[in-house]
Amino acid sequence: MPKVVRFGISLEKNLLGKFDRLIREKNYTNRSEAFRDLIREDLVKAEWKKNKEIVGAITLIYDHHKRELVNKLMDIQHDFGELIISSQHIHLDHNNCLEIIAVKGFSKEAQKLADSLKSVKGVKHGTLSLSTTGKDI
Ligand code: NI
Repeated sequence: MPKVVRFGISLEKNLLGKFDRLIREKNYTNRSEAFRDLIREDLVKAEWKKNKEIVGAITLIYDHHKRELVNKLMDIQHDFGELIISSQHIHLDHNNCLEIIAVKGFSKEAQKLADSLKSVKGVKHGTLSLSTTGKDI
C-alpha cells in the first residue's frame, strides 16, 4: 500500500460548491477520491501525449453487409497485429455489428490504428478510449 499524504487545497467558495455538486452527481463519497480521479485522468492523458506504453479500447459500429468494408477492417487489423491484444465481435441486429478491439502498445500506434479503422468508408461510428497499463499511476 503506497504512503498517503494529506495536503490542503485553497479554492474559491463558488468553485468548491460547483465541484461538490458535480461529484455528488457522479456518486463520489468524498472529495479526495474525486481529486484522485481527476489527477489520474490527467496523468493518463500525459502518457498518451508522450507516446508511452498505453492500453486502450477501440469500438466500431458498421454494417456487415458491406463485404469490402469488412475485408478492409480485417486487413488493417492484421497490419497492427502486435498492438491488438483482444477483439470481440457482437452482432447487434440484422445489419449492424459492434467490434471492440483492446490495444496495448505505444499511444501513437494505437491512435493510428483507431484513425485508420474509423476512416474506412461505411464505418458508422468509432471511438478510442484512452487508458493506462496502471504501472505508473
Ligand atoms: Ni456481426
